[in-house]
Amino acid sequence: MRLDKFLCETLGATRKEATRIIKSGTVTVDGVKTKVTSVKVTDDSTVEWDGRELKFHGPRYIMLFKPDGYVCSHEDNTHPSALSLLDEVNLEKLHFAGRLDVDTTGLVLITDDGQWSHKITSPKRKCAKTYRVWLADPIGADYAEKLEAGIQLKSEKDLTMPAVMEIVDEEEHELLLTIHEGKYHQVKRMFAALGNKVEGLHRAQIGGLGLDYSLEPGEYRYLTEEEVEAVFGE
Ligand code: URA
Repeated sequence: MRLDKFLCETLGATRKEATRIIKSGTVTVDGVKTKVTSVKVTDDSTVEWDGRELKFHGPRYIMLFKPDGYVCSHEDNTHPSALSLLDEVNLEKLHFAGRLDVDTTGLVLITDDGQWSHKITSPKRKCAKTYRVWLADPIGADYAEKLEAGIQLKSEKDLTMPAVMEIVDEEEHELLLTIHEGKYHQVKRMFAALGNKVEGLHRAQIGGLGLDYSLEPGEYRYLTEEEVEAVFGE
């Protein structure tokens, strides 16, 4: 393949942009700087642009530690997109496998594999999501039972699916809640229906995949092959 075509495909650049980049002398092939757009590149070649290796992407599977203040959509008028935290090419090809509210922190999965994300978000699959929740008022003695039985949310026909609650710190009104669906503002609405208010919300786990806490808020990494599958486990 020609070098300019290689840049088009790995960077999502137009032929004109690829030519400009190559002519600027910032591209190397196997460590040798070249300004020739027609240079042949093979599977074994190492191509770098500004010291960064360019590679063909297979499907991308990313875990992001979403910080407070970012939205899980491509565009928003008031807040930055969580995608802006990624140092990746072709951002427009990526989407969120389940969203978090702007003020919710924690595990967000991002991919360009629509089938994979559908399996995570489809209500039929009942993929578990575990949230760490901080409430304004004390945790009611009847909460665990009511959450297990299902909660009637405003403007919803059906009760919520059985949810599992575990108290983490009674004094701090802190608990873990595992749900198997993802309705709009679901956790906040469940506790509102119980007469309480969510003051802090953090997603710790999706299916069998926990957030990697060696990441700082705002940092991300690629999933391993095992993790791509682990998300469908318990
Ligand atoms: N439930 C909510 O209310 N908000 C989130 O961000 C996620 C689950």
